[in-house]
Amino acid sequence: MRRELRNEKTVGRLIVLAAVLLSVSARLHQRDVPSAFSKPASSAVDYVDPYIGNGGDSPNGSGGMIPSTAPPFAMTRWTAQTRQNYVSVTPYNYTDTSIYGFQGTHQPAIWMGESGQAIIAPGAGQIQSVFEKRGMSFKHEGEIATASYYSVLLDGIEGGQIHAEQSATSRVGHLRFTFKDTKTPYVLVEATRASVMGSDDPTNVTHPLGEITIDPLHREISGRNPERQDFIIGPSPAPSFAGYFVARFDVPFASYGTAQNGTISENATSGQGALLSGFARFPTGIHQVNVRVGVSFISVEQARKNLDTEIPDGTSLEKTAEKTRAAWAEKLDRIKVEGATQEENEIFYTAVFHTLQYPYEQSEDGKYYSGYDDTVHEGDSYTGYSIWDTFRAEWAWQILLAPERIPGMVQSMLQDYIEGGWLPMWKNIVETNIMVGTHADSLIAEAVVKGIRDFDLQTAFEAVLKDATVPPDNDWNTSYFDREQHVGYEVRAGLSSVYASHGWVASDIHSEAASRTLDYAYDDYAASVLAAAVSEDKWAAKLRERAFSAPFTIFNNETGFMEARNANGSWAGQDAGWTEGDMWAYTFDVVHDVPALITRRGGNASFVKFLDEHFDGGHNDHTNEPSHHIPYFYSLAGAASKSQERIREVTKINYNSSVNGLSGNEDCGQMSAWYIFSALGFYPVDPVSAEYVIGTPFFDKVTIDLPAAKHPLVITSPGAPSKPYIKNVSVNGKKLAGPILTHADIASGGHIEFEMSETPQAWASATLVSARDES
Ligand SMILES: *[C@@H]1O[C@H](CO)[C@@H](O)[C@H](O)[C@H]1NC(C)=O
Ligand SMILES: *[C@@H]1O[C@H](CO)[C@@H](O)[C@H](O)[C@H]1NC(C)=O
Ligand SMILES: *[C@@H]1O[C@H](CO)[C@@H](O)[C@H](O)[C@H]1NC(C)=O
Ligand SMILES: *[C@@H]1O[C@H](CO)[C@@H](O)[C@H](O)[C@H]1NC(C)=O
Ligand SMILES: *[C@@H]1O[C@H](CO)[C@@H](O)[C@H](O)[C@H]1NC(C)=O
Ligand SMILES: *[C@@H]1O[C@H](CO)[C@@H](O)[C@H](O)[C@H]1NC(C)=O
Ligand SMILES: *[C@@H]1O[C@H](CO)[C@@H](O)[C@H](O)[C@H]1NC(C)=O
Ligand SMILES: *[C@@H]1O[C@H](CO)[C@@H](O)[C@H](O)[C@H]1NC(C)=O
Ligand SMILES: *[C@@H]1O[C@H](CO)[C@@H](O)[C@H](O)[C@H]1NC(C)=O
Ligand SMILES: *[C@@H]1O[C@H](CO)[C@@H](O)[C@H](O)[C@H]1NC(C)=O
Ligand SMILES: *[C@@H]1O[C@H](CO)[C@@H](O)[C@H](O)[C@H]1NC(C)=O
Repeated sequence: MRRELRNEKTVGRLIVLAAVLLSVSARLHQRDVPSAFSKPASSAVDYVDPYIGNGGDSPNGSGGMIPSTAPPFAMTRWTAQTRQNYVSVTPYNYTDTSIYGFQGTHQPAIWMGESGQAIIAPGAGQIQSVFEKRGMSFKHEGEIATASYYSVLLDGIEGGQIHAEQSATSRVGHLRFTFKDTKTPYVLVEATRASVMGSDDPTNVTHPLGEITIDPLHREISGRNPERQDFIIGPSPAPSFAGYFVARFDVPFASYGTAQNGTISENATSGQGALLSGFARFPTGIHQVNVRVGVSFISVEQARKNLDTEIPDGTSLEKTAEKTRAAWAEKLDRIKVEGATQEENEIFYTAVFHTLQYPYEQSEDGKYYSGYDDTVHEGDSYTGYSIWDTFRAEWAWQILLAPERIPGMVQSMLQDYIEGGWLPMWKNIVETNIMVGTHADSLIAEAVVKGIRDFDLQTAFEAVLKDATVPPDNDWNTSYFDREQHVGYEVRAGLSSVYASHGWVASDIHSEAASRTLDYAYDDYAASVLAAAVSEDKWAAKLRERAFSAPFTIFNNETGFMEARNANGSWAGQDAGWTEGDMWAYTFDVVHDVPALITRRGGNASFVKFLDEHFDGGHNDHTNEPSHHIPYFYSLAGAASKSQERIREVTKINYNSSVNGLSGNEDCGQMSAWYIFSALGFYPVDPVSAEYVIGTPFFDKVTIDLPAAKHPLVITSPGAPSKPYIKNVSVNGKKLAGPILTHADIASGGHIEFEMSETPQAWASATLVSARDES
């Protein structure tokens, strides 16, 4: 996904040049983790390099991932703050040279806004509360970044150094500051800052009003921060939303106060308003301060409870880091890769690290704040979805590696439906109406066809059926363009205004009409799969019929490409109506009926030629999701060896272990999920089919201890690193005739055996073989 700010400036040439130099010389540093922070020893966690895909300066390497410490799916991720974050700007940027504090962030992706963050800034000497004045310089050589521990040396503003270290559990940040040759140490806790709340305009600054309370007796600074940068988009205003925090120190305060817009109030124990912080100074002779910061979306009391539950008094930073490292090891050490280089291991395990961050926990202690009805409810809840991206492969990967989370994640979506009226599309605390399609339909159907049903199936079907049958408000006169303000739930814009009656979304009424048409058709298919699973056979047949006919209502026989249409049926032009893609990528966007698409394009041989034109003409754009499945299409047209070639090419160009090592936005894990599946040798082209299309495994052997399986899944492909082509494949001793692997083949473990080759092979490549015979 790549949503642009309207007034975003283009990057200057000099900056681009600097970035290229940076990405080459980058990071020869962060491996010297103190042994106290490497327990358990020797884990695949050590391959995780949290800088990969941060984005640096390159317009091409814009993964937007921050080096952050927190366990999998953590509610809050802690990161060094190198700049003020807002939509399109992450709180940590590798090109920056100053650190302004440490941020407990909820910004789940570079294109979304922050919500209710907590910020802790150490200092020494005069209190510096104003953002611009509190930055301290640092060098990447002085940093250590791992999944569970981060450390950096900061140059004190008035001399000396501050060694800052951090780890975190899901709802508590644990920071330790060691002051070396500095003046009087202090720690500032920021409640509110100047914020870009106008979402698509960085110059539109507003000032959220928060609260600070200082309790010297209990060594606590607590408060509330209502900032939610996405509040002007989306149908739910979530008026009482706030991030609450309790920062508890292990050292008594020598003095304390509040700071507001640079004005210090000594001895003040509370404050309210804009640009507000609290601070505590520590007694002479104190060189080290630990602070644990509990956070909550419910209340200060809940934040305090979270603190006491997750990191009780007396817990050392080492213990916290050990616990978080163990949580990562529990997942990452389930996968054993043989035959990968150091760089490939870093790319692979960092990819796994990225795929287990979102959606993130929104519930605390069995309760959650719902922004849909502005009320606290019982139950589990998750937020930070980018479903337009993640329905493709990220969800399939989470079903394999984190199946224990899936029922809670689905139930959470059902709660969103109950409290807000619709399943989520892009939930960032509440719905933001970003991107198109109702792909929660796909997530639910995929879970069900893969055997996960521990949630309210009846409500699930009701919610999915609503997506397929109920249009949004004002469907005939609202465009639902990206980030359109003051509109209701976007859901299937265009459903009643033409799609349901004719099969296409009208381009003269709605934005992104051609992409919507294809997405709705796939979602109809997902809904039909779910309907069949709950024995709603009439709905299954009806939705299936529309799913298979709708895509071809926009297939222009004269051009051979998909093309948007207006309400009256006229063609809208080849460049109209696309969501982050073009007619090339989207003409391949019928994953649930590839044979019909192939027929429209003149049969297998002609389709393979079309794919060649697509790739050779530079039309495949792996930096964004609509292209992700396309390299796998050769296999479905009887040209598997060409899929194998293209997959290796795409991998080489779009993934490496540098700061710019993700060519496109990570998109809550989808970019990495593509890499992981491709490396294993298969990919969920049509997620709700419960089938995978065989690609080309990258390594000699991969063993995965799947949590839901009795036996490990073993994938052997001797020589794969230098042999991209497949000679034959067998699964549990049975030869695979075609390039399709079913979920049932692998769900309980087993053995996939690839025989690899240096040269293209006939396996699953009948179209190529017959073409060769003809010539
Ligand atoms: C990092 O900062 C540079 C320089 O301001 C900017 O060009 C780049 O887009 C930023 N990267 C990300 C991922 O925000
Ligand atoms: C960046 O991407 C553009 C468009 O895909 C491509 O033309 C260009 O070569 C890429 N630049 C680098 C440095 O990879
Ligand atoms: C600026 O942001 C506020 C919300 O903070 C919004 O109401 C207003 O419309 C925005 N102004 C512009 C010019 O975008
Ligand atoms: C902060 O102080 C500056 C002057 O020092 C003033 O111009 C500005 O309006 C103040 N901001 C707020 C939000 O009070
Ligand atoms: C703050 O309180 C301390 C201790 O009571 C006192 O010594 C000091 O003068 C007070 N400071 C100010 C600015 O009021
Ligand atoms: C669309 O139509 C409805 C109902 O007639 C009306 O209330 C609404 O203001 C219209 N919206 C726009 C954007 O014209
Ligand atoms: C395109 O051709 C198919 C047969 O290949 C036909 O069924 C269909 O009606 C045609 N579509 C249009 C829009 O003319
Ligand atoms: C069909 O709709 C388009 C777009 O609104 C318009 O330009 C065109 O004139 C219409 N054609 C007919 C035959 O009404
Ligand atoms: C096209 O290739 C696919 C995959 O090999 C095969 O299943 C299908 O039968 C082929 N179609 C034709 C018409 O040969
Ligand atoms: C890493 O990948 C990015 C994104 O595709 C690319 O721009 C960059 O040149 C690559 N760097 C190296 C060292 O290969
Ligand atoms: C590949 O085919 C050959 C010959 O049929 C057979 O000996 C070999 O076991 C097969 N390998 C796999 C992995 O199925």
